[in-house]
Order: sequence, then structure tokens, then C-alpha cells
Amino acid sequence: MKKLEDSQVEAFDTEYVDDVRWETIKAGIDQGFPAGKFTFLDLGGGNGRFADRVLAAYPNSKGTVLDSSEVLISRNQPSERKTVILDSVENFGRIDARYDIVFLHWLLHHVVSDSYAHTRRNQIWTLNAAGEHLTAGGRISVFENLYDGLLIDNLPGRIIYRMTSSRALSGLTRRLGANTAGVGVCFLSKKEWLSSFREAGLQVIDYAEPDTWSWSLPLSRTVCLNIQRRYAGHFWLGVQ
Ligand SMILES: C[S@@+](CC[C@H](N)C(=O)[O-])C[C@H]1O[C@@H](n2cnc3c(N)ncnc32)[C@H](O)[C@@H]1O
Repeated sequence: MKKLEDSQVEAFDTEYVDDVRWETIKAGIDQGFPAGKFTFLDLGGGNGRFADRVLAAYPNSKGTVLDSSEVLISRNQPSERKTVILDSVENFGRIDARYDIVFLHWLLHHVVSDSYAHTRRNQIWTLNAAGEHLTAGGRISVFENLYDGLLIDNLPGRIIYRMTSSRALSGLTRRLGANTAGVGVCFLSKKEWLSSFREAGLQVIDYAEPDTWSWSLPLSRTVCLNIQRRYAGHFWLGVQ
């Protein structure tokens, strides 16, 4: 899998799960683990702020944050209930433990390789491996930015992958605002994610669009990228 440079991950030193999104996560945790006692693995958990929020809300929980960015991992607040691992998700098969919850928040569009087909296999492999690291009755939480196409369902994500993964176009895509320029990013439509979950042996327990997130794009870009709708979606998944 390709690795983003330090300057590219700086933009991720933030917390994407705001109070509204947190309500969706909390409702799923409370439903699955009413006693509030569980272990979790936050893949691509970066600076650990989300893990800290879970640990603070559930004093009987324990968590592990894994991320490939040394810069973001070094910004984790230490906690005796938190383990921090600097590694790429592609090596997480080395972790010899199972977790009640695996969080995959805005990570799956980053597991890119040299071709679109290989990148899609990485996404399904990561989902499948997450399922294999679950305890019985465990759940996976996926947050993603979903891109539904106007004429062809999954076309926007394919175009964005081609543009952002091209080194030749990296100057242009950087100017257009892509912090993944030259490396690549692989967004999917909701329908394509649902099919990928099935392929990875996972089933959807719950689905929500917790916020009205929309980031405005000039009409010309919406048309060129064939975007019908772009929004944040959350999936709770279990093993089939
Ligand atoms: C968009 S950020 C999301 C961060 C966090 N999950 C959140 O919701 O705020 C993507 C994160 O995935 C990490 N990442 C990208 N590729 C990775 C890989 N192959 N293995 C582990 N982490 C990766 C980045 O370093 C970054 O922290």
C-alpha cells in the first residue's frame, strides 16, 4: 500500500467524529455492549482523539490505535487503557488479538496500491481481516465519504482515483485541493460499499447518515466527476 507523506497527513490531525456523528457511534456501542465493557481497535486512528473519546465515555473499555503515520501516532495522549501501534494496516494480521469493535473511520479510501483493481482488493482484504479480528458478536464501524454517480453509479470515485493517483497530474490535483495528490484516494458509492461488505463476508447491522455534511463543489466539477450525491455514511457491520 502506498504511504502518504508527513506533509499530506498533517491535514488529518483533526477529529472527524463530531458530537452529531458520535451519537450514532454511541448508540451502536450501547446496543452491542450494554455493560460498557469492551475492547476496540481503531485502524487508521491517527492522533488517537477518537479513541480517547471512547475511553472517556466507557471507563471499562480498552483500546488500541494503529496508524502508519509516525507524526500522528506521536500525538497520542498516553493512557494505561490505550495501546498505540505504528504500522500499516496491511500488517495488522500480525496482531494476535481479537476485539469487540474494530473502527475503520475514513481509512478504507486510503488503502491504495498501484492500480485501481489492486486498491479495491486492498479494501476488501482490510474489511475481511477486520472481521477475522472480531470476537463473537463483535462489530465493525465504518465511516466513509460516499460518492454516488449520476449516470454510472461508481464512476466519480474511479475518476478521482485516476486523477489523484497520477504523478503527472499531481501539480494540478494538489491545486484543486486533493491532499492525496500523486498517491491516490479511492472513494466508492454506497452501492459499491454494500457489495464490498458482502464480498468481505460482512453484513450490515445498521446504516445512518448522521449529518448533513456536504461540501460544495463548483457545478463544472460536479458534472465532470459525474457526481449525483456526495455525503458521509456510517455502517455498523457484523460477520455474516
Ligand atoms: C482521513 S484520516 C482519518 C483519521 C481518523 N480515523 C479519524 O476518523 O479522524 C486517515 C488516517 O488513516 C491513516 N492511514 C492511511 N493509510 C494507512 C495505512 N495503510 N495503514 C494505517 N493507517 C493509514 C492516516 O495516517 C490517517 O491517520
